[in-house]
Amino acid sequence: MLSTMLLDQGFVATDITHQTKAKQEVIRTGAWRCPICTYDNEDSMSECDICGALRNCLVRISQTGDSTAGGGRCKSSGASVMVKSLFASFRHRAPAKSVAFEAKNDAVLIEDAFIIRRNFQEFLRAFSSQKHQNINIAPFKFDSPSPDDLVSTRLHSSKLDSKANFKRLSSLDMSTREREKNILIESELGTEGPNSSSASVARDGGVKERDFASDCGIKPEILVSRMRSVSLSSKSRTGNVNEETGTSNLEYKPEAWMIPDQAEDRLSQLNLAIVGHVDSGKSTLSGRLLHLLGRISQKEMHRHEKEAKQQGKGSFAYAWALDESAEERERGITMTVAVAFFNSRKYHVVLLDSPGHRDFVPNMISGATQADAAILVVDASMGSFEAGLDPIGGQTREHALLIRSFGVDQIIVVVNKMDVVEYSQERFEMVKQKLGTFLRSCGFKDSSVLWVPASSMENQNLVATPDERLFSWFHGPCLLDAIDSLQLPARDYSKPLLMPICDIIKSQSQGQVSTCGKLVTGAIRTGSKVLIMPSREVATIRSLERDSQACKIARSGDNVTVNLQGIENNHVTAGGVLCHPDFPVRVSNHLELKILVLDIKIPILSGSQLELHIHHAKEAATVVKILSLLDPKTGKVTKKSPRCILAKQNAVVEVVLQGSVCVEEYAESRALGRVSLRSSGRTVALGLVTQIMKTQ
Ligand code: GTP
Ligand code: MG
Repeated sequence: MLSTMLLDQGFVATDITHQTKAKQEVIRTGAWRCPICTYDNEDSMSECDICGALRNCLVRISQTGDSTAGGGRCKSSGASVMVKSLFASFRHRAPAKSVAFEAKNDAVLIEDAFIIRRNFQEFLRAFSSQKHQNINIAPFKFDSPSPDDLVSTRLHSSKLDSKANFKRLSSLDMSTREREKNILIESELGTEGPNSSSASVARDGGVKERDFASDCGIKPEILVSRMRSVSLSSKSRTGNVNEETGTSNLEYKPEAWMIPDQAEDRLSQLNLAIVGHVDSGKSTLSGRLLHLLGRISQKEMHRHEKEAKQQGKGSFAYAWALDESAEERERGITMTVAVAFFNSRKYHVVLLDSPGHRDFVPNMISGATQADAAILVVDASMGSFEAGLDPIGGQTREHALLIRSFGVDQIIVVVNKMDVVEYSQERFEMVKQKLGTFLRSCGFKDSSVLWVPASSMENQNLVATPDERLFSWFHGPCLLDAIDSLQLPARDYSKPLLMPICDIIKSQSQGQVSTCGKLVTGAIRTGSKVLIMPSREVATIRSLERDSQACKIARSGDNVTVNLQGIENNHVTAGGVLCHPDFPVRVSNHLELKILVLDIKIPILSGSQLELHIHHAKEAATVVKILSLLDPKTGKVTKKSPRCILAKQNAVVEVVLQGSVCVEEYAESRALGRVSLRSSGRTVALGLVTQIMKTQ
């Protein structure tokens, strides 16, 4: 596939190590061939348009007969080490591993109004007793193609097919609500406040990371990206877009009930994502916390223990409180995000237990995109921590980067399984030093990272002071105190309602659907009318639930189930958005993005097929134009219309999606203006939506 791509772009797949002849510049009329990547450049070019190798240096090399160039060992070609590594590594690359996914069912179709999977009442009972639900984002089977595979092979998943009507909906004339304005995007990771967000990764210092050299010879570099002060044209969400009502230029003013009363005696909701490499103990930690805090009864725990033992998986008893499906239990891994609730002294915590296995990163993205803060769980045991931090197969890095790109800047690192390393301080310090360096490079400030050594299995340092084995050298907060020390991000009550739909519970009862998600802005209450996008249907809120308890009002930051009436099942989809009827979210399949490319090996080219994730939606995306490369430090354009984007470069690209998504420009809404791009089961870039273009 790679060679096809290269050939498509004018590359010749050449083993540069063995063909010294190819090192020499081939001067043809009006063109010269780059000996590094073999691209035929215009004669007027002084450097290769593809890999940046300087022509003069190459001429010198060929004249002096220096044939050591290539194979990643070229010392004086003028091409950067990164570029040389990139091209040198092509021939070593194994074909993309095929990852199998089952096309996602958008929702579970149920028998009657109150059934989810089996029976909704049953679900609610289970929900209230177990205090959690599973966000059923993407059922997985190994014997069907993964979403990434669907993208790369240009197949249509059933989800994509179901979005065929998006085009019709989004073709509604958007120009009426377009207004031009210049917006200053300040998005520099690590320098923003608690509600900050960005899709770039940055670091403050000059710490170099050297311990995790990848096997292709690319020296890991610190990921630095400062998407700074870029003036851009933006069309904002205004209240004049509803063709049906003909309303125009409405100015949004929140009503009194939408602003929380300071005197209100209610704990604030904190959405806490539990992320980390597979098997680091996330579900065990979550189950243990819920049990210790009385959210899982002794009786239930006995049942989990008994059942887990019967299946020869005794050690998974706590994890089973979260991993409910037969497949998850059988395989001993989490596949969908489980949602659970508990109260700390300060917060009503919504726990989002993410899957760690790389095949389920899309599910992790959908769940963790709601996070206000995160717990990154790492396994302290020998070899396991290192495996998690491995740049190729480890999910510790990918999860940390994704979480940061969702705007999360407070993180608790639980160094779990300390029992396995006999509560060694030395091991803890080693983990802290290595992971700390990486987290800094992602833009996490040292002051926003809390380190908690713990053992979920032996209940050490979770909700109380640990015993002597840890306490002899660790005097910091236990996990529960660390959670209470987190700061709640600023909530935006001043803007109209936006609630991306994470999951839906369809009903066969006429006109009733339940949606789950976190309110990004605004507020709703029982009886409110909401606009469902992209279907543009209006429904009434029949009831609201927070932690399976009925509530009357939900505001920005709240994670709730919204029971709607007056709406047909097929007009509500996960990945859609609930909005204020006069202020619809925008819908498009054509976006301009500012992206930071991660540690990729295959360059991103015009025509590259990727998978775009935005809040709870994902769509196949084609890069249709690479507009410019940006200086990571200043954000200024360094090159217009480059042919490709390499690892760690910042760029502005235009993408066209297979189906339309609900989206806002980043300057308008951070939560709806952030994207991640994936390919072949890996996150390849993080980005911000800088412009929403006319649907194609
Ligand atoms: P995924 O969700 O699949 O990524 O895994 P996970 O991170 O949720 O891990 P899980 O909780 O399923 O635990 C994996 C294994 O680690 C289980 O066998 C647990 O018993 C074990 N485990 C979890 N925490 C600890 C711990 O503190 N000490 C020891 N010794 N084992 C632990
Ligand atoms: Mg798990």
